[in-house]
This record gives sequence, structure tokens and C-alpha cells, in this order.
Amino acid sequence: MKTPQAVPLIRAPRRRGSRDKADPCTMVIFGGAGDLTKRKLIPAIYYLAEQKLLPDNFALLGVARDQNTDDSYRAMMREAMSRSDEIHKVNDDVWQWLCQRTFYAGGDFTRDDAYANIKTRLNEIESKSGEEDRNRLFYLAIPPSVFETTLTHLCASGLARRTHSYEERPWNRIVIEKPFGTSLDSAMALNRLVLDEFGEHQIYRIDHYLGKESVQNILVFRFANSIFEPLWNRHYVSHVQITAAESVGVEGRGKYYEEAGVLRDMFQNHLLQLLTLAAMEPPSSFTADAVRDEKVKVLHSVRPLVQGDCEPAVVRAQYDGGTVDGKSVPAYTSEPDVPANSLTPTFAAMRVDINNWRWKGVPFYLRSGKRMARRISEIAIQFRSPPLLLFGQKAVEEMSPSVLTMRVQPDEGISLRFQVKTPGAMHELTPGLEITPVDMDFTYGEAFGNDAHPAYETLLLDCMIGDPTLFTRSDEVEMAWSIIDPVLDYWGKHPARSLPRYPAGSWGPEEANKLLLGDHTRWR
Ligand code: BG6
Repeated sequence: MKTPQAVPLIRAPRRRGSRDKADPCTMVIFGGAGDLTKRKLIPAIYYLAEQKLLPDNFALLGVARDQNTDDSYRAMMREAMSRSDEIHKVNDDVWQWLCQRTFYAGGDFTRDDAYANIKTRLNEIESKSGEEDRNRLFYLAIPPSVFETTLTHLCASGLARRTHSYEERPWNRIVIEKPFGTSLDSAMALNRLVLDEFGEHQIYRIDHYLGKESVQNILVFRFANSIFEPLWNRHYVSHVQITAAESVGVEGRGKYYEEAGVLRDMFQNHLLQLLTLAAMEPPSSFTADAVRDEKVKVLHSVRPLVQGDCEPAVVRAQYDGGTVDGKSVPAYTSEPDVPANSLTPTFAAMRVDINNWRWKGVPFYLRSGKRMARRISEIAIQFRSPPLLLFGQKAVEEMSPSVLTMRVQPDEGISLRFQVKTPGAMHELTPGLEITPVDMDFTYGEAFGNDAHPAYETLLLDCMIGDPTLFTRSDEVEMAWSIIDPVLDYWGKHPARSLPRYPAGSWGPEEANKLLLGDHTRWR
């Protein structure tokens, strides 16, 4: 296994409590007319403006190849907001406030003249603020194929400059969208490139799962309560199931998905992030590096998925046509830009073992797929059965185990399933005793109303405040690749002739169930 690079520590504080206002800054979005900007970034910026979390001298510069003026770009963003499913109602005053601070620069990112144009526009915009040196946030909402040239040009043109410490002002920060590389080698090369030009404290690698309230709550739930942590280990936990099931298909992204497949798209990032948060040790403090150090330690302890030349215990499959939410949907191979003979997996399930003192012997089962029966992401901790069968063998066999479930989405919340005596019911072996599982349920919606902040809003604010806790550090991203890469490598060297298939709208292929048989359990 290759060794990820060591990283300098960033002693950045984790902000806490009520939300701080962003630092004054100019945000430059490369890919300013793209899908991500329209669907996620502009709505998130709008919400920050609505909550008055952006300072008066905030400015936004969209950069794209299209021919646009400031006005036509503003109109394009306004149109995108009215289509966005993230925004319920646009307040005209807030939009006008944002509009006055939104600008556009056209150009091809691979050419020098684009950067000269951006520089001119930034000078115009920033000179109005009366500040000589402005903080700048560069957001790369662009395909990975143009990361390298964009980063190189950004530095060469002097638009973004290296700062030597987290405290240095004005700050320059770079946000990099996923996927961060397509393999361990490419992620290492990208890290080298980025870290040749910038300090780690300037780089914000996004995994939007970390911006979800319910994901952040995993740490609060675990470490702000003392009742669960004593049980959170191999002595009490029988196994853990982490699921990220989606009912959507590839949503017109067939070209990207053909190259990615489910392991790169969901496991290397989102699922391994959930795994680290569920399995990590308590950090020594709630600072960015203390938290990330503990997450990296979990990744270091993962037993390699490929042992010698043995086939990895990873089930992969692809969806067929079927019915989802009452609508019939086509097979993956009938999606646009997907060849009819594609062998790209849209579902995977795997067993992950964490070889450390806390978790040795406790399987973590991970699964994710497109076009499954329902959209649901959750972590379920299943506890061991009681050591002694007091209530009659039959009753215990019927007993479902105690399970603590952290629902990431939808219906964010936490529930605890445990056994109670059914009132009055009799059981033939232990008269007077029949046992029923019940759920104790907490939902965010009921407790706090349905106004959770969208993930991108949280993450963008963190970039502007300078809190990297919810972003992936260079060693973390490489460690995650070093877990997934050997499986991709194995599959590359031993190409499958066909893949198991599952009907759209189901819970995946039969093969995924076999993975759990050895542990006498099944998928939830
Ligand atoms: C993205 C993947 O990172 O996450 C998509 O590229 C996937 O394929 C999406 O649909 C899932 O995110 P969410 O927030 O909708 O669960």
C-alpha cells in the first residue's frame, strides 16, 4: 500500500453555537454557469444572504466560458433559483442585495487571457470596497480534467497566492469539489499539485455529506452524551450497517457515471466519511485537526479489502428496468450516454473490518446503490443479544436485537429499538411474558421544525469563516482511496463477464444478502 503524505497541522478553531458571519471576501466560482452553481451554490449563497451571514462588502464573481454580461448572468442565476428545489420562496429585497454584488467574467480557463480578464474584473469589483487586499475564495465547480490547468493559472496569474499560515491576512482559499482524483495515484498527484502551490490550510476539499446536520450530529450524539459511548465497542456491538440508498438513477450524468461507478461516486467519499464518524475515538478537542486526526486513524485501521490475489468480498451489481415510486424506469444500460454492454456497477455492498482495540471483530457492512426502493441514508448500530435467555428460547429467537439508528436522510433523526413486554400477552413457555420490539424516536423535524440548513450553505459559510473541520484533509482523502483502490484494481485486472442485476425499485441483488449470512444477520 502506498503511504499517504504527511500534512502540516492547522490549528483552526471549530466555530460553535450560533453562526458567525462570513469574513469580508470575494468569492470566485469557476464553473459559474454550471449545474452545481445553479442547483446548489447560488441557493446556498442566497440563504446566507437572507440570514444576514454575508458581510456588506461581499462580492461574487461567476466565471465561465459563456458570453454573458453582469446583467444576463444575474438573470441566469435568478432563473436558476426559481427552478431550484432548495429554495421555497425568493425574497426580492434579499435577491436585490445579492444581485448588486454579483458579477461575471467570461473566458476559457485553459487560456491566459481568461485570467487577465478575471484580474481586471476583480480589480474593478474590489476597488469599490476601498480595501486594497481582499480575502478571496476560489471555488472550483469544474470537471476534474481542468483542475490542474486552472490551479496552475490561478497561481501564475497571481490571482491566488500562497499564504504561510492559517492566520495570515488577507486569506486566499481554494474549494475543490469531489471527485478528488479517480484513484490513489491521481489523488496523490492532485494533492502534490495543490500543495506545491498552496498550503494545506488554504485547501477545502468538499464532501457535501459532511455539511448535513444529521452527519454533524453523529459526533455530538456520541460525544456530548455519556450513556452511549460505553456501549460503543466490540463488547456490546454485534455489527454496524451503513446504508446510502438512492431512488434516483444517474440523472443524465451517464458519461460521468460510466467512469466513476458506485465505488468512486459514493464509497470513497460519503460512505467512508460516515464510517469514520461512527467509528472514531473521541478527539482531544473539537478543533479541525483533532477531529480529522481521529478520522484518519480509523481509515488506517481498516483491514485491506483485497488480500493477496483473493477476490474481494465486495458485491457489485447494476440496475435493470423496474418501478420506483410507482413509475416505471429504464435499466441503467438504457440511460443516455451509457453503452448497452456497460459493466459499471450502480450498487455495491461490502464488509469492512476495523482492526483496532475498539472494533476488532465487529463487521461494518456498507451498501449503496442507485434506483433502490427508497432514498435512505443511515447508520444502524446493532447490539449483541443478552447473554442469558431468561424468557424462553422461543421468545429470544423471535426477539429482534436492540438497534440504534442514526438517520441521515430523509426524516433525519435517531431511534432506539428495544424490547418490551407486550401488555397482558401470554407466552406458552413463560406464561405472562411476550416480548415486542418498540422504537424510541427522535426526529429533527418534530424537535426543531423543518429548517435544517442545506449542506452547501453550512460548508460555504465554513470556508468563508475558515473552519476546515468538515472538509477532507489531504491524508484523509488518500487513505480513503487506499481502501477503495485495490478493489478497483482487482476488478480492472479480473474483468467480469456480467454483473448481478437488481430490478429498479428493489433493495439490491440477492448476492448482497449472502455477504451477511456468516454473521447470521441480514440487511435492514
Ligand atoms: C453525489 C453523487 O456526491 O452524491 C451522486 O455524485 C449522489 O451520484 C449524491 O446522487 C447523493 O447526495 P444526496 O445529498 O442527494 O444524498
